Amino acid sequence: MFIIEYIQAPEYIECMELLKRTTTCGALRKDDSGKTVILNGWVHRKRDHGGIFFINLRDRYGLTQTVVDQDAPEELKAAAAELRNEYCIALEGTVRERPAGMVNPGMPTGEIEVLVRHLVILSRSEVLPFQVDEESKAGEDLRLTYRYLDLRSTGMQNRIRLRSEVSFAVREWMTAQGFYEIETPTFIKSTPEGARDYLVPSRLYPGKFYALPQSPQLYKQILMVAGFDKYFQIARCYRDEETRGDRQPEFTQIDIEMSFVGREDVLAMTEGLMGRVFRKTLGLELPARFRRLTWEEAQERYGSDKPDLRFDLTLRDFSPFAEAGEFQAFKDALRQGEQARQLAAERGVSIAGGAVKALTVPASLMPSPYSRKQIEELEAQAKIYRAKGLAWMKVGEGGGLEGGVSRFFAGQEGAIVSALDAGPGDLILLAADSRRAVANTALGAVRSKLGRDLKLTGPGPDGKSRFEFVWIVDFPMFEFNEEENRWEAAHHMFTWPQDQYHTTLESDPGSVKGDLYDLVLNGFELASGSIRIHDPELQKRVFRIVGFGPEEAERRFGFLTEAFKYGAPPHGGIAPGLDRLVMIMAGETSIKEVIAFPKNSFAASPMDDCPGEVDQRQLDELHLRVEGPAP
Ligand code: AMO
Ligand code: AMP
Repeated sequence: MFIIEYIQAPEYIECMELLKRTTTCGALRKDDSGKTVILNGWVHRKRDHGGIFFINLRDRYGLTQTVVDQDAPEELKAAAAELRNEYCIALEGTVRERPAGMVNPGMPTGEIEVLVRHLVILSRSEVLPFQVDEESKAGEDLRLTYRYLDLRSTGMQNRIRLRSEVSFAVREWMTAQGFYEIETPTFIKSTPEGARDYLVPSRLYPGKFYALPQSPQLYKQILMVAGFDKYFQIARCYRDEETRGDRQPEFTQIDIEMSFVGREDVLAMTEGLMGRVFRKTLGLELPARFRRLTWEEAQERYGSDKPDLRFDLTLRDFSPFAEAGEFQAFKDALRQGEQARQLAAERGVSIAGGAVKALTVPASLMPSPYSRKQIEELEAQAKIYRAKGLAWMKVGEGGGLEGGVSRFFAGQEGAIVSALDAGPGDLILLAADSRRAVANTALGAVRSKLGRDLKLTGPGPDGKSRFEFVWIVDFPMFEFNEEENRWEAAHHMFTWPQDQYHTTLESDPGSVKGDLYDLVLNGFELASGSIRIHDPELQKRVFRIVGFGPEEAERRFGFLTEAFKYGAPPHGGIAPGLDRLVMIMAGETSIKEVIAFPKNSFAASPMDDCPGEVDQRQLDELHLRVEGPAP
């Protein structure tokens, strides 16, 4: 039926019609036995069993074992002998069942093989810088330099496929809910989201710059003023900030905005979206509603505003026991905290004071009792988060307290053990600080490390990955920047302060809660959003608190306040990070694993050597002069 002559390159190009695959490398099953097929793909592995060649052919659909037999024509055997890994080939042959004993149950095509009759080398590959497979231990820069090879691995192929499916599910669902996908510009006037902007110099306007958007924030709000009601966009965002596992200089948001809504509408819409995406792409049912914690509960119980709820170790307040006990470091922390609180109160600023917090690690979670060295590692983690130390004690077999700082709490053992829900063999970890937030976050970081070390984040009893969503709500609207001695917007300055705080905005910014919410998944901040200010007067007040006087505000966001003068609807929105979503769904911890062409940890792309130099002529046209030493 399909006849390919063995054709030497380069004539093959004219013959692609003849060489075109009739099926893919992932499709053939036992029922296909006897069929004549053409496959196109890459040589994944070749084994030469003394004149019989087994060639595993790979494309993005899978792997198929093909065989060039001992009694094949000489020229076919010669072609097979020449093959090396990653040669791109076409072959024609007959599907046959593998002999009993040769079946590979781990491979979807493991019951068959293709007996090759014709084979054409479409293109050759040089010696590979690393093997194309999951086990390849190539370093990051090598992987990124040869990203096209790295992307050929099954893992990368699966993750890029998942990303495409997630994007499609998002578009399908949002469109069905009546949202329009509207593109917003990538050359904009600088939008403040807290990071540094990437700038694009203008040729036509010497000395002026476009900024790449940190997010489409202002444009989506203006689209609400324009009456579009329900907007979404799978939007590219650019932020010049330090690259980390879950951060890239350019990344993608599922950007959403809605008019005539309150917080509950945005939350419910997002829950619907996530439910749909997980059902469609992973076949998983999420709860219809996600759990909720206030920001304060999250800090107090988990020491984090993005708690991983796949395990439920919780922080408890140990302060009353510390006060009654004899451990001086704890008493000092509380005393200093109280002094600071009183001083601040005299200035009309409310702050929290000190705290001693405790975390019980149940014996059942520890494979063996924690050694001193392990506890020191936990202490080092706490210190990264500014803790002065990490104290500990253990619950003995008889239910009393032993070791560490236990001797300072004589007489309180029973009460402590019961308040901390502790039992024999449990480890109790304690952090004290004159700043409550430091005690919480340091112990929160210890909690996270325990989660990793004790493998508390692994699959559930059914062997499936777990996805624990939680909404964090009621964030403080403003944060005090101690270095610059001024208030900053905790999210962004377009967030609606909750109604009950409108009269005390200026007098007590520290206690104002914003109508803002984060969606947290498995310990990552997946999405952030808020109900926005649509009242130009309220907006001006918020600008003023974060230090934008009328002129500065006018210069930077005048167009927004201007738009709000013409009947701005109440509106709000949210933006889940697409990269983070796919990363978590794929069980990865770096978004580089779900981006086809990410930047490395130094914001560079080794494959195309970007950022790169440009010609003097280009600089001249842009009215730019580069100063400093030539590279
Ligand atoms: P925010 O700045 O919190 O909010 O960003 C929203 C979500 O975008 C993702 N994200 C990132 N992903 C990868 N690399 C980065 N550098 C990066 N920065 C952010 C995260 C984050 O939760 N305009 C607002 C949203 C709104 O209010 O509607 C905004 O951009 O998943
Ligand atoms: P010290 O008496 O200073 O040697 O400390 C005894 C133990 O208490 C050590 O394990 C310290 O890490 C711990 N420790 C000291 N200060 C604090 C603190 N503020 N919070 C928690 N643990 C502390």
